[in-house]
Amino acid sequence: MANYIVKNNGPLQGEVTVSGAKNSVLPLMAATLLCGEPCIIDGVPDLRDVHIMKDILRSLGATVEEIGDDTIKIHAKEIASNEPPRDMVDKMRASFLVMGPLISRTGYGKLHMPGGCSIGERPIDLHLKGFESLEANIYHRAEEIEVVVEKDKLTGKVIYLDFPSVGATENIMMAAVLADGVTNIINAAEEPEIVDLANFLNKMGARIKGAGTESIKIEGVSELHGCRHKVIPDRIEAGTYMMAAAITRGKVIVKNLVPDHMRPIVAKLQECGVKVKLVDMGYEVDAQQAPIVATDIKTLPYPGFPTDIQSPFMALLATARGSSEVVETVFENRFMHVAELNKMGAAITTEDRKANIPGGKTLKGAEVYATDLRGGATMVLAGLVATGETVIKDIYHIERGYEKFIEKLKGLGAEIKRVEA
Ligand code: UD1
Repeated sequence: MANYIVKNNGPLQGEVTVSGAKNSVLPLMAATLLCGEPCIIDGVPDLRDVHIMKDILRSLGATVEEIGDDTIKIHAKEIASNEPPRDMVDKMRASFLVMGPLISRTGYGKLHMPGGCSIGERPIDLHLKGFESLEANIYHRAEEIEVVVEKDKLTGKVIYLDFPSVGATENIMMAAVLADGVTNIINAAEEPEIVDLANFLNKMGARIKGAGTESIKIEGVSELHGCRHKVIPDRIEAGTYMMAAAITRGKVIVKNLVPDHMRPIVAKLQECGVKVKLVDMGYEVDAQQAPIVATDIKTLPYPGFPTDIQSPFMALLATARGSSEVVETVFENRFMHVAELNKMGAAITTEDRKANIPGGKTLKGAEVYATDLRGGATMVLAGLVATGETVIKDIYHIERGYEKFIEKLKGLGAEIKRVEA
């Protein structure tokens, strides 16, 4: 077990380069199960979740090779097993993304209920409802889920999602690409990671239109082929470094991002008084001069404010002038970081899905926990401006999703180290 130890070393300065998106690469890797030819993915971040997905793919019979610094080649020539081992599946919710490709290519998949961050109930009912609409049979056995396609292929249908779930949209898209006929997903998620997956699948020979809107049309094809694709930049990692610049009242250029994906984050930072300027290679975030003032945020599906940046933004608001309100509408239990921020003197109160942040606090170093992936990054940001030393425990959550977090922050002048406990 290791901890992070963070000390305040003043405003962050310099440049940081964003890695490939965790939430994009995981579905892309799962999608390689759809064809018997090799697929090459560039811009793959070195993350715990990516390693878990590699293990899962290998357990199903695929070969996964690292053929460059951040390039992997996956070849699922044969599907040797339709049941990834429970110990792998339990580690990460995104493991359930192999179900769509498995049932699409082989007609059968069996998975243990997926694990991951405990930020809410996170059921998979919408994924299953989608598979059922495509005429698969679902069997729940204790904590296992079996999906069986009785006919030769799944059957294209109109599927309405009660909520624009990212994972359900991805799983249904992957299931539908080899189905018989046309599938329409209505009220689909519109996240950039959905568009990236659709682009990847189309390169494999799929026929998908409308990804990035609330209506996606998938015309089933008889087979897919190998392709090469570069993962989009991680908008959540980019947002985290933008928050790090703001909370330390620093000036940082965050490079390798897609400006369009950052719009809600940029808008809210500007409302707080932070200067955000598009420069050649990314965004320059300058919080050196203006006072940082309170603002309210409400998380929403894309293009609304991302739930994954809610907790880092809350750390910033704790130090802003005036009180702010944060409303979390996507997950029902995404305020676990509040208790940890309060150990540092943030004095935040919550009621149901609303948090009130009084603001104007000088945070104090404390021993705190990374309660989940983004909540963990939040504690690091708080530690960067706290008085004294902040010790962050359970950092395995952070390492699931931030590539070279320590190195990148140190590159901006932060004082942070990883120590074996
Ligand atoms: C993905 C992201 C995660 C992000 C989230 C929302 C990945 C690997 N993870 O998670 O970082 O925070 O999108 O942007 O891409 N829900 C149901 N039934 C379902 C599926 C979801 O009720 O079948 C609910 C969830 O409990 C949650 C909400 O829908 O309250 C959003 O979940 P979803 O969009 O599916 O998120 P994930 O795909 O799990």
